[in-house]
Amino acid sequence: MNYLKITGGVRLHGELEIQGAKNSVLPILAATLLNAGESVIHHCPKLQDVDASIRILKQLGCSARWEGNTLTVHTQDMNCGEIPDHLMREMRSSVIFLGAILGRCGRAVLSYPGGCELGPRPIDLHLDALRAMGARIEERGGYLHCSAPKLQGCEITLSLPSVGATENVILAACGAEGTTVLCNAAREPEIVDLQAFLCAMGADVQGAGSSTVVIQGQKKLHDCEHRVISDRIVAATYLAAAAAAGGEILLRHVDYRHLSPVTAALKEAGCTVRSHLDWVQLQSSGGLRAVRPVRTAPYPGFPTDAQAVLMAAMLKSRGTTVFIENIFENRYRHVDELTRMGANIRTEGRVAVVCGVPVLHGARVRSTDLRGGAALAVAALSAQGESVISELHHIDRGYADLAGDLARLGARVARVDEDEKI
Ligand code: EPZ
Repeated sequence: MNYLKITGGVRLHGELEIQGAKNSVLPILAATLLNAGESVIHHCPKLQDVDASIRILKQLGCSARWEGNTLTVHTQDMNCGEIPDHLMREMRSSVIFLGAILGRCGRAVLSYPGGCELGPRPIDLHLDALRAMGARIEERGGYLHCSAPKLQGCEITLSLPSVGATENVILAACGAEGTTVLCNAAREPEIVDLQAFLCAMGADVQGAGSSTVVIQGQKKLHDCEHRVISDRIVAATYLAAAAAAGGEILLRHVDYRHLSPVTAALKEAGCTVRSHLDWVQLQSSGGLRAVRPVRTAPYPGFPTDAQAVLMAAMLKSRGTTVFIENIFENRYRHVDELTRMGANIRTEGRVAVVCGVPVLHGARVRSTDLRGGAALAVAALSAQGESVISELHHIDRGYADLAGDLARLGARVARVDEDEKI
């Protein structure tokens, strides 16, 4: 097991290029199955979840090869539609392969994805939508047995704008006969990126980024190349870090429009934020003021994935900030660990009340989930003394090189192997 050692109290300065977006590349890797050929994916982040997706692709008979940050996937030899339990459990979003497998070969067997650290992760919207397109799905002994000899395009309305369900419907609809009109679709930038990849492959998908996506199925697909957009949550993490620690950073190749709810909160907290087409700059004195209630919501609302890192930035702010987590049931598991550093946070259900404290002190803390782990690093940067953050496998799911990126911004951080003295 590895640890991060962070010594706080150092202001951050420098520039970073932001990695490719995890939540964009995962559905894109599933989408490669739709075309029996080659997909070249540039700006692909090296993450545990990407490795898990590659293992699933290989299990299905496909191959994948890295060259720097370019991943080339070959799917012509896909020979089955079955994903075993141990691979399904590696990654919550493995259910995203279901639509693509059905779209490609009309038959899929995968284990029912379990809950995760954020609470139950139901997939009823995914299954209802695929059934509406003609898929027969039986849930037997923890496995989903799915067959769809002929998927039929139709009009589907999601009861809530689920990101994963939106992506699964789009992928299945590419393999369906006729037109699919998806209403109340999620509008995240990662879905726009998925549409761009599919269109590069020859699919006919329009409307991503709005609430209505229209897919004309069974287009002749072909090999393609695509560059993944930058990860807006990783960018939000580093902006929150600089806001908390103080300093001035510049993030390149970031679409500032994808970050606006986060930068709005940081400006309200007293930071100076400048942005242009593909860069965002933040200056902070390190002394922040509390902000108006932060309510997480589907895009373009405040992203649930940035809730923990913004909370970490507000721990020493002047005043009280209220967070309302409207997307997941159990997304405050980082609170206990932040409290070990001296934070004053009270939670009640979906509400967390953060009262600013004058000082945080370094502590031994444990990552509880991907974004909660990143929040511990943000808090450690503004704490007095040294923090040791363990359970880094959570962080490695979504950050290609958190320690390296923070070090490039001047932070005193080291990733330490288990056999070294702590
Ligand atoms: C995606 O998860 C992201 N993951 C999550 O990022 C992100 O937090 C989430 O969207 C919301 O933006 C990937 O893209 C790989 P949802 P997903 O379906 O698709 C409920 C991270 O940290 N729901 O939009 O699973 C669900 O329980 C991760 O990078 C149903 O009830 O999210 C949740 O309360 C964490 N039934 C809400 O909808 C369903 O069938 C939003 O879930 C599906 C979802």
